Amino acid sequence: MKKKGIYSDSHMKVDHRKVPSVNIIGAGLVGLSAALALSRMGIPCRLISPMPSERAQSVMAEGGINAALDTMGENDTPYDHYEDTMRGGVYLADPNAVWALCSRAPETVGLLLSLGAALRTENDRPVLRNFGGQKKKRTAYAKSSTGKILMTALTDAVRRYEAEGLVKRYSHHRLHSLCIRNGECLGAEVADLHSRVITELKGSVILASGGMNSLFPGLTTGSAVNTGDVTALAFVSGAELADLEFIQYHPTTFPIAGKRCLISEAARGEGGRLFALRNGKPWYFMQEKHPVLGDLSPRDVVSREIELVRNDKGCGGKVFLDMTGLEDYVWKNRLSDLREECIRYLRRDPATYPVEVSPGIHYFMGGINVDEHHRTNIAGLYAAGECACQYHGANRLGGNSMLGAVFGGQVAAESAASELSEKNTGEKEAGSLPPDEVMQPVGVRKEAAKLLRDSLGIFRSGKKLEAAADKIPELIGAEDSTLQRNRLRLGQAVLLSALNRRESRGAHTRTDYPETDDEHYRKTTVAVFDRNEVKISFRDIPEKRGGAG
Ligand code: FUM
Repeated sequence: MKKKGIYSDSHMKVDHRKVPSVNIIGAGLVGLSAALALSRMGIPCRLISPMPSERAQSVMAEGGINAALDTMGENDTPYDHYEDTMRGGVYLADPNAVWALCSRAPETVGLLLSLGAALRTENDRPVLRNFGGQKKKRTAYAKSSTGKILMTALTDAVRRYEAEGLVKRYSHHRLHSLCIRNGECLGAEVADLHSRVITELKGSVILASGGMNSLFPGLTTGSAVNTGDVTALAFVSGAELADLEFIQYHPTTFPIAGKRCLISEAARGEGGRLFALRNGKPWYFMQEKHPVLGDLSPRDVVSREIELVRNDKGCGGKVFLDMTGLEDYVWKNRLSDLREECIRYLRRDPATYPVEVSPGIHYFMGGINVDEHHRTNIAGLYAAGECACQYHGANRLGGNSMLGAVFGGQVAAESAASELSEKNTGEKEAGSLPPDEVMQPVGVRKEAAKLLRDSLGIFRSGKKLEAAADKIPELIGAEDSTLQRNRLRLGQAVLLSALNRRESRGAHTRTDYPETDDEHYRKTTVAVFDRNEVKISFRDIPEKRGGAG
């Protein structure tokens, strides 16, 4: 049988029960990108998600997407992008994967433009802005609604293949289990949240399910729908996780009901500045303490500084983002959505009043361990985007997540396509979901939430991490819900990863190990679930190949 292109010339409907197919869990940027890439190769796929794409977390992504397009006359190159990404991630990312990401970024953004993504352009060329941790203007954007614009373009592009039958949507479906036999993933059982019917879908599986927000209820900028339950399920089913301790706190957020609201880094990219009142006078501490990148230092750096200032009694415990000096045309053309959001939630116009901000959990750099081809340790199982560990090392640069999502989805699709076989065929009913399992709680229970929140902040101590890690097995033992038990195991893996990394690097700052220790810890932290235990080890980072970077 031909592996690729089996339907590329055909407009007939595809019977997904009778042809090899790829199951994609998640219909945000990663899922859509993978679906598009597979469709263009003529390979059928199923797009499975609890929410339709229009409600995916990706729609909320604000700031932009990075690519060394060099439209601003700064002599930017993919190599500069690569270097900034590696440095921002404190040299923990896979250099070959990062080089692929950065060198193909112009092509990735080009693809999105060709699909009609309405990024801001002048004379038909994308306008780029400054984003954190990068020395050059490299972030293409659509005001502060870039995610929405990219999602609209990709949703539309995929719809054509839905109409042709190559892509079959399973909206309002949730992953129930992975079918893994002898170290190989042969399919997925998915539950219809309306009818409660569980169906076994044969085929390889691409996980594209986002971050682990259920571990930190109310504390993240991310959607509560992105629980991390898929990651937890993959973990207890045998998938390795990596670099879980690296949790990104975005410097500028504020609390709203049940979550944190983001003020995009774009605000600082356009000239917004952080200050605290010291002796009654504004102190622009980032500019003073970090004269080179100032307010646009990498997020781990800015969040640490904000936390220190907030804990400094002389500064009144508050930090503000001052956007009052921004020109009218900037508000109108580049940040109008951000302004509207501040007015809606804070009832104050940021063009007139500084906004009080504090860091909030924004992104999980770690996740399912994948190689540069987005393959996991289980054959037939792939992962990309925030649920995977790829590209960002110890700290992600703003603007690299949407890039990593779109590019990662493509790479995972290419890998799944190259390994497609006859056994990836078939569908059958496999039971029904108990009624009480349809609605799931959005977070871990209170006690676990407190343990995780208190020990996995911006500054961490071995003592607190150890106490939390010691307590978790007791909570697991007392838990009667499988879902909550899996979440706790995931939480345990995060805690043990953080406890075992006895150094400070990127988003992981240990008060008891303040130095970066390259000799022992410039390595990937790997967590495995083995005979009911979470085990942590450290693995060498792949060598950079000639030609990469
Ligand atoms: O600040 C922001 O707009 C966030 C962007 C990102 O996380 O990539």
